Amino acid sequence: MMKPNSMAIFTSNDIYPTSADGHLPFKQHSDILYLSGADQEESILVLFPDAHKDSLREVLFLKETNDLIAVWEGAKYTKSQAFDISGIKTVFWLSEFERVFNEMAVKADRIYLNGNEHLRAHIDTELRQDRMNNWIKEHYHTHEFERSQPLLHRVRGTKSELELEVMRKAAEITTKGYKRILKYMKPGVWEHELEAEFMHEFLINRSRGFAYTPIIASGNNANVLHYIENNDKCHDGDLVLFDVGAEYGNYTCDVTRCFPVNGKFTARQAEVYSAVLSVHEGAIELLRPGIMLDDYHKKVGELMTVELLKLGLISDEDVTNEDPAWPAYKKYFMHGTSHYLGLDVHDYGLWTIPVEEGMVFTVEPGIYIPEEGLGIRIEDDIVITKDGHENLTREIPKTLEEIEAFMSR
Ligand code: GLY
Ligand code: MN
Ligand code: MN
Repeated sequence: MMKPNSMAIFTSNDIYPTSADGHLPFKQHSDILYLSGADQEESILVLFPDAHKDSLREVLFLKETNDLIAVWEGAKYTKSQAFDISGIKTVFWLSEFERVFNEMAVKADRIYLNGNEHLRAHIDTELRQDRMNNWIKEHYHTHEFERSQPLLHRVRGTKSELELEVMRKAAEITTKGYKRILKYMKPGVWEHELEAEFMHEFLINRSRGFAYTPIIASGNNANVLHYIENNDKCHDGDLVLFDVGAEYGNYTCDVTRCFPVNGKFTARQAEVYSAVLSVHEGAIELLRPGIMLDDYHKKVGELMTVELLKLGLISDEDVTNEDPAWPAYKKYFMHGTSHYLGLDVHDYGLWTIPVEEGMVFTVEPGIYIPEEGLGIRIEDDIVITKDGHENLTREIPKTLEEIEAFMSR
């Protein structure tokens, strides 16, 4: 996909300092991970498909390992381990970077730089990749520059079978987590106690933990869309909204369910739940090869409008007078229905091409009624197949009947 005679460069994330000598756990940048498998700090990947020497078509630079590092931090990749992981034959230590990069760059016409072009990213920090981009622009300012992100959004949006296998595993572990916590649901249980049960199940199944900060929101907490305190008591008669997924092999799972604390939905909870479930199921049916994501979201909005009218939460008049830019249903369903899912929770993917086989999306409509202390969302992870879909998270109890039957056991 790169223009002729071009190079591209990708770096690891930094290890982020906290205070004193503390730091956050290392989390690899998903692009270098996707392209090489190298899951280690300070790695650099350079691609140059038209390189004059075959050995310089793809090159990995790694932090040099030594006995001292091995004692304190554990061994880092040897060159042969790096080859096993990445399939890249040419591996240098970082001390060789400037020399080898220069040898490549003087033969290239342009360099693809990587940025973060996610619609919803707001980043104040300078990333390791940003510092690399600045260094390259300073030293190679007569080259042409291109953006890697549009290409990555195209390729990462559609998953390979190998990626799907890992995502199925993340979904399987998430499913086990939900089935575990259902056994702990009872009046008086605390949100953080349920979070702990998820974590137990995830770790014991060799997930590294939560794919994103989990939301465990009882009662009216469910109306705070990004509630992550998880420190309230769950009361008899309330629902608990769980937005929880396991990470596995760096891939994410992203699921939302709402369960009654005492095992039984009230009539009103069941009524609103059924409305959300109906939109959720309708949306899954709409999400097929060929549809554009904008058209899909508009159609889901129409399904939601019908349900909110039936519930009496909005009126025909509200719909007639609605602002097309912020339709009436948005009062009770103010977020999007679907996002790409993969290495990142809000994963890369283009909205300008039709949905195709191998893409993975969440489907997550919700209805939020703060005046009733009721917030309901249902979220599954859907793989697009040639003629429909595969639901990765369907085994997690979802219908009213499934949930009540499971909880009565
Ligand atoms: N858990 C984040 C989301 O549902 O998008
Ligand atoms: Mn979610
Ligand atoms: Mn989601």
